[in-house]
Amino acid sequence: MSRPIQIAPSVLPADFARLGEEVAALEAAGVDLIQWDVMDGCFVPNLTFGPDVIAAARAHTSLPFEAHLMVVEPDAMAARYIEAGCGRLIVHAEACRHLHRTLAAIGELGATAAVALNPATPASAVAHVLDLVDLVLVMTVNPGFGGQRYLDTMEPKIAEVAALLDAAGRRDQVDIEVDGGIGPDTIGRAASAGANVLVAGTALYRHRDGLQAAVSELRDLATAAAPSPS
Ligand code: DX5
Repeated sequence: MSRPIQIAPSVLPADFARLGEEVAALEAAGVDLIQWDVMDGCFVPNLTFGPDVIAAARAHTSLPFEAHLMVVEPDAMAARYIEAGCGRLIVHAEACRHLHRTLAAIGELGATAAVALNPATPASAVAHVLDLVDLVLVMTVNPGFGGQRYLDTMEPKIAEVAALLDAAGRRDQVDIEVDGGIGPDTIGRAASAGANVLVAGTALYRHRDGLQAAVSELRDLATAAAPSPS
């Protein structure tokens, strides 16, 4: 059974002076969850949301929050992002000296754990932690900024992650997410390769007809391209 298509906005392009209203608008536009791109200025050359900012937005929507932790010390910050209202934490394999331990610790804190792979990191890096995650994020840009060009060279890696999940018997329990350069011209390719959670920032906020039209268009394109259930 294939995993349901989900549209997850990145709030990087949102108006940071009105984040409460912005997350409410995203809920009204029909997104499935909200991704917070947490950046510490070390793992990536940008700095974004602390847990208190996310906590302030929490009361303005009932949508699930996930924190994409682009940080060098995810273990030190995990509990605070969970307390802020993030039900899923996505850590980077490249930032974790002990990835298995970090993912298990997130589960013990009561959140769902997920792992992200930068473009140069092979799918095999997650082969031995698939029992600890509910999502694998295949980055389709180098992390740090929105509005970058989609890396189509990541499509074989998406398929490799799907094959690893199949081999582990976890394909029906674990989502494959992509993030970076996802828009009308690229979402079908990513979905066809096996991604079912599609993160978009620029494509949502710059759509000529607004957020709701953007969400509907992206969802329709991804659904049409997704592999038929085996
Ligand atoms: C990179 C960020 C971006 C953002 C979405 O670190 O994670 O990928 O979420 O970017 P665009 O604007 O390309 O959808």
